[in-house]
Amino acid sequence: MLQPFTEQSPRPSQATDWDESPGFDYKELDALWVTKWTPESSWQPGQLYAHQGATLELSPGANVLHYGQAVFEGLKARRTRNDKAVLFRPIDNARRMRASSSRLMMEAPPVQDFLQAVTAVVRANARWIPRYRKGSLYIRPLLVGSGPALGVRPAQEYTFCVFASPVGTYMGGNRVIVLSTAHRAAPYGTGAAKVAGNYAASLLPQKMAKSLDCADALYCDAREDRYIEELSGANFFAILHDGTVVTPALGSILPGITRDSILTVAREVFHWPVAERRVSIDEILNEAVEAFYTGTAAVLSPITVVNYRGQDHPIGDGEAGPRAQMLLEALDEIQLQERPDYWDWVVEIDE
Ligand SMILES: Cc1ncc(COP(=O)(O)O)c(C=O)c1O
Repeated sequence: MLQPFTEQSPRPSQATDWDESPGFDYKELDALWVTKWTPESSWQPGQLYAHQGATLELSPGANVLHYGQAVFEGLKARRTRNDKAVLFRPIDNARRMRASSSRLMMEAPPVQDFLQAVTAVVRANARWIPRYRKGSLYIRPLLVGSGPALGVRPAQEYTFCVFASPVGTYMGGNRVIVLSTAHRAAPYGTGAAKVAGNYAASLLPQKMAKSLDCADALYCDAREDRYIEELSGANFFAILHDGTVVTPALGSILPGITRDSILTVAREVFHWPVAERRVSIDEILNEAVEAFYTGTAAVLSPITVVNYRGQDHPIGDGEAGPRAQMLLEALDEIQLQERPDYWDWVVEIDE
């Protein structure tokens, strides 16, 4: 059930002054946004609903339950030193949701509607944005085929929902494993789209990785099983002996917004050589002096050890590297308006 969000809507007490990390969990905050698409009405004007006790009603025939028409996004609102609420590249999340949706033949909200929904959710839940450098408000836009279907065909109704949750760090862990029994995506599959099924498929490899004390699986390509793709929820980077920053080329990996930002910062701020190309596991084990993974949730985390074919291989000297740290700090400072944002990535929210 959904109740419109009003002055009287129930609001949970804010039990934290943000000195403790909020973790990374679903929480019911003050308000969420829901809207629907039908062929007759197209996208209805969305609105805020009370988040406490909110549920989405679905027909048992809903396409998403049978055939998995579901895509999502993830972005963060943070507080700057001056207590402004800022978003990072939300337009790119809006565009990627449209790209992911078109792969699954779903209707997606226009970019402006997406931005309106995200902004409204951040404003309504602004008290949940952690203090400066104490975490962030993670925003989760979600789109599902809610119309019923029995034959395999696109739904005739779509539900778009945006909710948020305060978060601390997501993953963590510097050791990753190349599993001999897991691939994430095949050429021409859905690897480049942020579709829910990719993440259901990553649960088992992630469990295997964790059981072997690794933060996540590092997937290789499905055709030759030699070229690195990415992790379950983050992109892969390495810095080679000659100083080149390399990352796997786009194709069957998710075009990460953090990935693009790191490439841009490496190229345009530090003037380091950058390459997007095929990156073999052998090259990384032999030539990399640093490695790391990037994502909205993970931000930038060093990889110090890669377990491959049952053996641990330290990257460089097996410690977090200085250039990964420089990239992380630069990105963080751009996001918090402490460094010039030449690319207009940061969007301030009027509260
Ligand atoms: C599979 C996968 N790769 C990469 C990323 C990083 O993307 P972004 O930097 O846009 O968060 C994510 C997270 O969204 C992901 O799920």
